[in-house]
Amino acid sequence: MQNAIIIGASSGIGRSLAEILVGKGYRVGVTGRRTDLLESLRILNPDKVFTLRMDVQDIESLESACEALTTEMGCIDLMVISAGIGIPNRTLDFQKEHDVIRTNILGFTCIADWAMRRFQSQGHGHLVNISSIASLRGNGHAPSYNATKAYQANYLEGLRLNADKTRLPIHVTDIRPGFVDTDMAKGMRMFWMSTPEKAATQIADAIQRKRRVAFVTRRWVLVAWLLQWIPYPLLRRVV
Ligand SMILES: NC(=O)c1ccc[n+]([C@@H]2O[C@H](COP(=O)([O-])OP(=O)(O)OC[C@H]3O[C@@H](n4cnc5c(N)ncnc54)[C@H](OP(=O)(O)O)[C@@H]3O)[C@@H](O)[C@H]2O)c1
Repeated sequence: MQNAIIIGASSGIGRSLAEILVGKGYRVGVTGRRTDLLESLRILNPDKVFTLRMDVQDIESLESACEALTTEMGCIDLMVISAGIGIPNRTLDFQKEHDVIRTNILGFTCIADWAMRRFQSQGHGHLVNISSIASLRGNGHAPSYNATKAYQANYLEGLRLNADKTRLPIHVTDIRPGFVDTDMAKGMRMFWMSTPEKAATQIADAIQRKRRVAFVTRRWVLVAWLLQWIPYPLLRRVV
């Protein structure tokens, strides 16, 4: 039986992925700040779901929290980082940017590094992070969101290159969703909006295939291609 930890599984993509992994036979450790939502997951599968309250902005506590949850579960084969925030910030309030950076860069890096060190010492493992299609270009409405997602995508490539040198079966997957109908989307009606369930199904498939990069849903690969080539004057009209 495989063991997975999902950081940020109280709602949205992380929660749906937890449900799918449990269905596939995984034992799943779920974290987040809203413990009532974590508990509602555990109660449905008390033998397979382990919960831990974790605030990823509380950087000093993260390594010991990951250790504690892994010890309780026995081992870890798969680490998924789904905790992330984006805050609209046209007025460039630094406090908002700082919040996003603490979650999407500092918290993410601390957990990703912990997982990769763990995988190297045990000789195997799979790290998955939910970055975004937003990683590909800047955004005037929420500058730190796109910039931190670009950091994540680039950092994951670095971790993969680092792991490849060990020649151990350690995998790194960068999931880049388009629009997914979660709390983060705040009820916006955007084009090609996926349900969290559909997004999580495709993420589970990318995990199984040990993909390096996966766009979710799959057709967002077209937008990714466009975003890379769209000239700045055109980009200025849309974001
Ligand atoms: N929805 C989209 O359209 C979309 C598109 C591209 C990428 N993504 C990415 O997908 C990931 C998941 O987002 P989602 O759409 O599923 O939104 P969501 O429903 O808001 O889920 C976010 C998750 O992150 C956790 N989280 C946030 N801040 C945290 C903190 N300080 N400490 C611990 N946990 C924290 C939340 O748990 P608590 O609040 O309980 O702590 C929650 O479980 C994010 O990284 C997001 O950037 C989303």
